[in-house]
Amino acid sequence: VSQDKINVMISGAPASGKGTQCHLITNKVTYFLSLRQIPYSITYSQLNCYVTYSLTISSICIQYGLVHVAAGDLLRAEIATGSENGKRAKQYMEKGQLVPDEIVVMMVKDRLLQPDSKENGWLLDGYPRSLSQATKLKGFGFEPDIFLLLEVSEDVLVERVVGRRLDPVTGKIYHLKYSPPETEEIAARLTQRFDDTEEKVKLRLNTHHQNVESVLSLYNDITVKINGNVSKEEVFAQIDSALTSLVEQKAASGSMA
Ligand code: AP5
Repeated sequence: VSQDKINVMISGAPASGKGTQCHLITNKVTYFLSLRQIPYSITYSQLNCYVTYSLTISSICIQYGLVHVAAGDLLRAEIATGSENGKRAKQYMEKGQLVPDEIVVMMVKDRLLQPDSKENGWLLDGYPRSLSQATKLKGFGFEPDIFLLLEVSEDVLVERVVGRRLDPVTGKIYHLKYSPPETEEIAARLTQRFDDTEEKVKLRLNTHHQNVESVLSLYNDITVKINGNVSKEEVFAQIDSALTSLVEQKAASGSMA
């Protein structure tokens, strides 16, 4: 059994753990055994109604099934194609600034309109980052059910950025200290992002502070704040609990799509 769709936004400062948590959310599969009672015979007497049950054991699988759409990943993929848009985007990313709307807005919109995002629900990472992006997204009819905000202190962010490494084969995010690679083979192929230096993360943090309040104000009523200073498993436990409550609420109100 997988739930019907929900739409999720995840936000937070650079290196607050958005990509790490999106990986955990999209890979969550929980199997558990359930004991179900199924009535199989009903016998009436004059005064009582007897119902006999058979017990069956079945396995139930819970997963969110969301499609991860990360604005930063879309931009890095565009850079890798060598296109004019990619070249322009890289100039802004190297300075830690937001890439102009004319490049990023349609890119995200087109991805959200793909059949998989529409059918399964989306997990939007790092978007919107400005009031104009949020307003345009709403204008296109994309409304989140929940806005997850990862809160992490700044000294922790800098340490996370400089230690981050990426596996180009699996796309998995590592950290030299907190999530080291499992094997020597993986360690040998890890790469570092061009904007992952202490100097550049400070520029990215400035950009984040300039824009974050205007975005947050739009999603106040659906915002869930997550303490992102703890281990990735503890962060995920908070997110999992918020998403499970949302799914249960939607199911109870009969509003699942
Ligand atoms: P983007 O790629 O989105 O970068 P970002 O927002 O700076 O976020 P990061 O990807 O750096 O970090 P994260 O929060 O995903 O953290 P992660 O899980 O990797 O954007 C890059 C650039 O593209 C922007 O600067 C901008 O120029 C442009 N751009 C993007 N979106 C745009 C938009 N909407 N409009 C215009 N321009 C846009 O974790 C970081 C490290 O910490 C990892 O090593 C990880 O292993 C480790 N870690 C994670 N969680 C924990 C934990 N709980 N404990 C210990 N370590 C942890």
